[in-house]
Amino acid sequence: MPKALITGITGQDGSHLAEFLLSKGYEVLGMVRRTSTINFDRIRHFQDQVTLVQGDLLDQVSLISILEQHHPDEVYNLAAQSFVPTSWEQPVLTGEFTALGVTRLLDAIRLVDPKIRFYQASSSEMFGKVQAVPQNEKTPFYPRSPYGVAKVYGHWITVNYRESYGLFACSGILFNHEGPRRGLEFVTHKITNAVARIKLGMERELRLGNLDARRDWGYAPDYVRAMWLMLQQPEPDDYVIATGETHSVQEFCEEAFGYVGLDWRDYVVQDPRFMRPAEVDLLVGDASKARAKLGWQPTVTFRELVRIMVDADLEALQRNAHVPHITYA
Ligand code: NAP
Ligand code: GDD
Repeated sequence: MPKALITGITGQDGSHLAEFLLSKGYEVLGMVRRTSTINFDRIRHFQDQVTLVQGDLLDQVSLISILEQHHPDEVYNLAAQSFVPTSWEQPVLTGEFTALGVTRLLDAIRLVDPKIRFYQASSSEMFGKVQAVPQNEKTPFYPRSPYGVAKVYGHWITVNYRESYGLFACSGILFNHEGPRRGLEFVTHKITNAVARIKLGMERELRLGNLDARRDWGYAPDYVRAMWLMLQQPEPDDYVIATGETHSVQEFCEEAFGYVGLDWRDYVVQDPRFMRPAEVDLLVGDASKARAKLGWQPTVTFRELVRIMVDADLEALQRNAHVPHITYA
């Protein structure tokens, strides 16, 4: 039975990847950091099928101990400070988690067992002020946030450890991917949660920032499958994972409000609090390498994604589930 360690198992992608690997017959270890309140909402339904181990990307000894005690065959590094606006407020901490954390983990692998296969969660945010349209593995990076800068470091240190030490280290350059487990501060879930609240009469407006920003939005479960595929190849490599379609934040609003029979213009208010110091205006990925070499392709369209998220929020609110209202950027 292959064994995989997931850092960031409590996050959106970590929870989907754990379920995917369990379905493939893996023994799954999830690294969690100590918190005063347990935040296992996304993993509770399969928690008894995985082994949770305590560790933190800030603490190298914890990483080495986990590898020494549990001997995983594959390590998926999904942990990060992943919210772009927070990276301007906490740029040094973002660098510690999202950049140096990758080196701590790669070094732990190099020291404990260099045969471990490693996946790094790189990001389309690295393309930032895009130098080509669409973006592929050869497009130069031009990050526009401390988060993007940290991810560029994480990407190149992964390439460097592959080339320096022969590690089987892959970097997946994933474009935005969403779903009902997405954090509520990210724009897609912020919109669908507000649409559901407005539809149910619990709220009257939705305050957003830049409506013109364009993203290549896919469905998170499709994207974790690509992570696994990368580690099953004969050689380590880097891959762009994207749908190849781009839509604006406004189009997302049109689709989400329209789905429940509302006109977004009656509810959306632009608020400068949600504008960013530097914006990534347009992302659209070219995943032809992943299609050709991994046989990967997305299965959920933009319209389906919006509907899945709106339906999930409506259902959660109607069940009276605790869906907190988001008040910060
Ligand atoms: P997420 O929901 O924000 O999850 C982040 C995870 O990292 C959480 O489990 C969090 O744990 C953990 N974490 C944060 N700091 C840590 C630390 N110092 N030590 C250990 N764990 C720590 O993010 P996601 O959307 O699943 O994304 C997964 C990864 O893919 C991230 O690296 C993100 O930057 C990258 N990525 C995401 C997308 C996307 O569209 N979703 C696209 C490209 C790349 P807590 O629960 O304790 O906070
Ligand atoms: N969050 C948020 N809130 N974004 C808003 C808002 C708002 O009220 N109004 C407009 N936007 C715009 C942002 O300015 C940005 O251009 C776009 O919506 C998407 O923002 P997010 O959903 O926060 O995602 P992101 O693209 O910045 O980052 C996500 O995708 C990256 C991959 O490209 C995160 O998941 C990153 O971790 C990931 O690397």
